[in-house]
Amino acid sequence: MRLRFKANAIPEMKENPKIFFYPRDKRGKWSEVFGNTNPIYLEVGAGKGDFVIEMAKKHPEINFIALEMNTNAFVIASRKIKEEELANVIGLIDHAEDLRDIFGKKEIDRIFINFSTPWPKTKHHKRRLSHPRFLNIYKDIIKDSGIIEQKTDDKDFFLDSLEYYKEFPLQILEIDYKLDMEKSIVTEYEKKWRDRGKDIYYCKVKL
Ligand SMILES: C[S@@+](CC[C@H](N)C(=O)[O-])C[C@H]1O[C@@H](n2cnc3c(N)ncnc32)[C@H](O)[C@@H]1O
Repeated sequence: MRLRFKANAIPEMKENPKIFFYPRDKRGKWSEVFGNTNPIYLEVGAGKGDFVIEMAKKHPEINFIALEMNTNAFVIASRKIKEEELANVIGLIDHAEDLRDIFGKKEIDRIFINFSTPWPKTKHHKRRLSHPRFLNIYKDIIKDSGIIEQKTDDKDFFLDSLEYYKEFPLQILEIDYKLDMEKSIVTEYEKKWRDRGKDIYYCKVKL
């Protein structure tokens, strides 16, 4: 994602009470932040936030957390979160590597990995958000039988991810090699790749 540096992104987001910067003090207390005990779904690498916002509108009975490390992208999400005035969505500026510091054990019900960077070079595979390095982190913060859903346009990355899930092991519940637009809440990257005629790969796995 190539985005021009936005000097005001951080001060603007700091004005938004729904955006939290490196929120270690909320660990284990996210239900208190939402003011209810509804399930919590997390998108890791949420970009400009379209997916969580549309999901939050569709599912008011679920709390959504968008996590993103890139403030230039996420300031767009922050604006949408403010405008939509949805009670069930918040944003976090943080790194997926630190999820154990942000969330308590089993605090999360579902994780979404949408169009995360494929990191094609073998020496970079450890950076993939579906790599066992991250699966071990997700395992700590997600409930037993928690679900992970992944979408990507990159076939090699998808096939490798399926291998990671099988070896971990995670139970593969659903695989789709050509996800129907109608079945999808379309993300920013998904729209870009669909417009270029690319197939979208999807899977749903269970811990
Ligand atoms: C290709 S974009 C996809 C954005 C959005 N999910 C979509 O589908 O349009 C991947 C995003 O993941 C974020 N990301 C990558 N690695 C991350 C990490 N370790 N922690 C937090 N965010 C990360 C990047 O900053 C980027 O915004």
